[in-house]
Amino acid sequence: MAIVERVFSGVQPTGNLHLGNYLGAIVNFVRLQETHNCIYCVVDLHAITQPVSVWGGPTELARNTREVTAAFIAAGIDPNKHIVFNQSQVTGHAELTWIFNCVARIGWLNRMTQFKEKAGKDRENASVGLYDYPVLMAADILLYRATHVPVGEDQKQHLELARDIAQKFNNDFADSIRSHGFADGLLFPPPEPLITGPATRVMSLRDGTKKMSKSDSSDNSRINLTDDADTIAQKIRKAKTDPEPLPSEEKGLEPRPEADNLVGIYAALSGRSKAEVLREFGGGQFSNFKNALVELCVTKLSPIASEMKRLMADPGHVDAILIDGADRASVIAHETMQAAKDIVGFIRKP
Ligand code: AMP
Ligand code: TRP
Repeated sequence: MAIVERVFSGVQPTGNLHLGNYLGAIVNFVRLQETHNCIYCVVDLHAITQPVSVWGGPTELARNTREVTAAFIAAGIDPNKHIVFNQSQVTGHAELTWIFNCVARIGWLNRMTQFKEKAGKDRENASVGLYDYPVLMAADILLYRATHVPVGEDQKQHLELARDIAQKFNNDFADSIRSHGFADGLLFPPPEPLITGPATRVMSLRDGTKKMSKSDSSDNSRINLTDDADTIAQKIRKAKTDPEPLPSEEKGLEPRPEADNLVGIYAALSGRSKAEVLREFGGGQFSNFKNALVELCVTKLSPIASEMKRLMADPGHVDAILIDGADRASVIAHETMQAAKDIVGFIRKP
């Protein structure tokens, strides 16, 4: 099995897909289709690590799984040329997680900041799955021996953990890996994070120090991919800013998180750098910039929202895409699992 350059990434079906998901992740997913073989996964096994009251129960989970799929396709992902599927359909994710549970160290997981944030003060009451979440994420990536992983800034630590797990597995089983025909000693190539663009961390519209999040109780804190033009306009007009006009240089944004965030969003949506955006809007009134931002957001997001709506009206079609994607993903996953089992020493049907 040669190592092929392969992209893998995932998005949780936990509702309220927002501009942060779009700019931090999905835009890059679309771009990478030109240069790589890509696998994009709706990570339903990850979604259920939170309390049921957070992910909403069975009906919501199924709806949100279809909605993320619809967003992928509406944004321009081609499920025929690449692979789009939901995680729970491919059993290898859970199987490889078990092997990795025995490779990863408790000390490594204890350092994960996202677990600490999500578990909050009542850590005793968090699910075991939430604690193990980064190990499942490593299995997602390595099950396909993926080499590149486009994600937002918040996933950087999880990617480092995936690299550590890959490396420890390769070390622990070095001899066995070689004797099973992997001359370079790598069953799992260490995956590279791709954290790119001017909006790898989109912040809340209400507080420039907090990231835009699906779970923020204020809907005004985020622009949802399903928001209509009026809602987008209202949210941007209400977005927190400071009284100063925009600076002409990027350095002037440093002490101004809210202004920095809106300029970053404009830059990412228009495919320009922040410096270029400031060259156009620097020195001008904030209200003019906000008007331009409303127009840009509506132009870019409205077609996605309407395509998502069209797709969501035909759930059978969306499900067929996920089933076909899972069939194709399973072929690759099966090959890796067979090799992993042989390398660990598990007896199996040839
Ligand atoms: P999640 O909604 O947690 O499944 O995240 C899906 C993808 O969106 C991941 O690659 C995240 O890193 C990315 N993402 C989530 N929130 C943001 C944000 N506020 N800014 C940039 N990227 C984000
Ligand atoms: N943990 C990621 C998030 O919340 C989602 C995810 C699950 C993922 N498995 C992945 C991202 C594998 C990249 C690769 O954003």
